[in-house]
Formats: sequence, structure tokens, C-alpha cells
Amino acid sequence: MCAGSGGVGKTTTAAAIAMGMAERGLKVAVVTIDPAKRLADSLGLEELGNEPRLVDPERFSEHGVEIEGELWALMLDSKGTFDELIERLAPDEATAQEVLSNRIYQQLSNSVAGSQEFTAIAKLYELDQDGDYDLLVLDTPPSRNALDFLDAPGRLTGFFQGRAMQMFLRPAGIGGRILGRGTGVVFSIMERLTGVDLLHDLSVFFRALGGMVDGFTERARRVGLLLTDPGTTFLIVTAPRHDPVEEAIFFHRKLRDADMPFGGLVVNRLHRAVGNGALPDGLDEELAHKVEVAAHELAALAERDAANVEHLRSELGDPPTIVVPELDGDVHDVEGLALVRGHLFADD
Ligand SMILES: Nc1ncnc2c1ncn2[C@@H]1O[C@H](COP(=O)(O)OP(=O)(O)OP(=O)(O)O)[C@@H](O)[C@H]1O
Ligand SMILES: [Mg+2]
Repeated sequence: MCAGSGGVGKTTTAAAIAMGMAERGLKVAVVTIDPAKRLADSLGLEELGNEPRLVDPERFSEHGVEIEGELWALMLDSKGTFDELIERLAPDEATAQEVLSNRIYQQLSNSVAGSQEFTAIAKLYELDQDGDYDLLVLDTPPSRNALDFLDAPGRLTGFFQGRAMQMFLRPAGIGGRILGRGTGVVFSIMERLTGVDLLHDLSVFFRALGGMVDGFTERARRVGLLLTDPGTTFLIVTAPRHDPVEEAIFFHRKLRDADMPFGGLVVNRLHRAVGNGALPDGLDEELAHKVEVAAHELAALAERDAANVEHLRSELGDPPTIVVPELDGDVHDVEGLALVRGHLFADD
């Protein structure tokens, strides 16, 4: 599990780890979430897919990366994963279709807070159940807060066991009372105004979903167990800057409190100072000045980054740490990924 705060390089790291492990002979599946379009293209992921696709090794061998094993990749389709879950848990096809075509469900499955977090783990669970992979690499959603991810299965269970849902499910609850005269009038006015029979949608939704509550709760529980499974390892990906470092420290504490396995740190985009102060000959004065200023700024960034890494490592008790430098350009093609994997798997 590649976890960390927004924009630090989780997707890049997940893809590069998968590449490096497939190179070492493993059958690897990587689940990416909202990868940049060009990165997705370079993995051959032109569209969302709920089944992993085999990445053509030729794409990599052109760039000197020989895949000895197999690399499978998928771009998480959050809504599709939710739909599949409904199909699996519904008692029969008609009920499944009733839910899937229901407007309330469609809105919810697109927007339930944490639904992407939950479906990512749910997908991982499925791959773990029915795939014969040696390694599953999970990228995590671009949450502002990495903790959303850890809470996701619990939040979903909470939704099903929560008061709102229970009220609708109880025969004498709102579900029954909603048909009372006052509300009936409101709903029928709404229907006339909007053309949407909300009352019908609501009652179908809760009636059909009601039968699946236990299945869902059990599923969410098992999916949640995957997070504490000894076969799981969390890598905390971070940039060597103040805010992501503080979040990484907090996240690490949460992992420890929840007994989730922490494997190590990936510090991405570290600045390094360049040169020894001597400028090459033949620069005109203006250019020489600019180079000097740039080198000076870079040295300051490098110093700041190094201090942040030191602080982070000491807070985490000196965990295994891998550093990936700030590269010259974005990582959105096979060449860039190969560079990152080179750093991730370097001997030193
Ligand atoms: N070492 C690096 N050097 C230069 N650019 C990098 C490096 N690592 C990642 N990037 C670039 O930084 C951007 C963010 O990376 P990435 O998408 O992997 O982060 P993320 O943590 O998955 O973000 P999000 O939280 O939005 O999902 C991308 O444009 C990527 O190409
Ligand atoms: Mg990402």
C-alpha cells in the first residue's frame, strides 16, 4: 500500500515498484487511482477497467527494462467496483438491476464520502481472493488526508448500521411514515416539478438494499481485515517538505495504533545541491550570475529537505528509507518510471 498525502508521488511510486518487481520475475498487479493521462497511456491503460490488463513487455524493453515476470495494471473504476459488489451481494439479478438503475443509488455510489477509498481496498480484496499474483501494489486515492483511507471500511459499515439507514429499514420508521399525508403531498409536488418520483426511488432503494446490509457489513469487515493482514505492508510516501512530513508522522502513529504493518518510507522529490561552486569557463557575466543564484537556491532547498528528512526519520525511529531525487521533468512515461524504479531498487 503506497499511502501518503496528496501529490507526493504515490501513483508514481506504486507504478515504479510494480515495474521493478515484475522485472525481478514476480507476477505483479498494480491498482492505480486517477493516474495522469500520460502515465496511464504509457502503461497501456487507455480507459478505466475493472480487470487488470497485462502490460505489453515491449513497452518497457524499448527502454532497457526487461520484465521477467508479468506486470498487470488497472485503473480503478470506483463506481464500477461498487456496482459489481451490488451484483455479488444481491439475492437475485432483478434486485441487483433494481438497485443499479435506482437514481438514489446512482447518486450515492458516485458521491458517498470515502467511496473511492473503500472501493480501492475492496478491489484489492477481490484481486487477493481470485488472482494468483505474487504481489499486489495499491496506489491510494488523492485524499487530502491519508487517514481517510484507513477509516474507509469502518465508515461504510457505519453508514449501513447508522441511524439514518436503520430508520428507513424499520417497518414503522420513516420508510413507513413517509407515506403520511403531508409528506405525500410534498413528494407529489416535487414529482410534478422535477419529473422525478423521489418517493418511489427512495423506497425501492432502501427496500432492495435492506436485504444486503448484512452482506455489506461482512464484506466491509473482511476488506478491513486486509489492512491489518501480516501479508500487507504500508509504505509511507512523502515529499521532504514541512506539511507532508508532519502528515507522514501522524499517519505513521495511526498505523501503529491500529496495528497495521509499516514497511518503510519513500522520500520522493528530494533536492540535492549541485556543483562545487566553480563555474565553467566562458559564461558571460549575466549568465554566470544567474547560474550562481540558481545553485544557491538549490543548495538552500537541499538543506531544508535534508533537515526535514532527518526530523521525519528520527520521529519514526529510523525506519528503512528510500530516497528518490527530484527529477528534471514530470514522471509520465516509461523512461521516467524506469528512472524512479532505478532509485527505488538501487543497492545503496
Ligand atoms: N521524483 C520526481 N521528480 C519529478 N517529478 C515527480 C517525481 N515524482 C513524481 N513526480 C511528479 O509529481 C506529480 C505528482 O505525482 P503523483 O501523481 O505520483 O502523486 P500522487 O501522490 O499520486 O498524487 P495524488 O495525491 O494527486 O494522487 C506528477 O506530475 C509526477 O509526474
Ligand atoms: Mg495519485
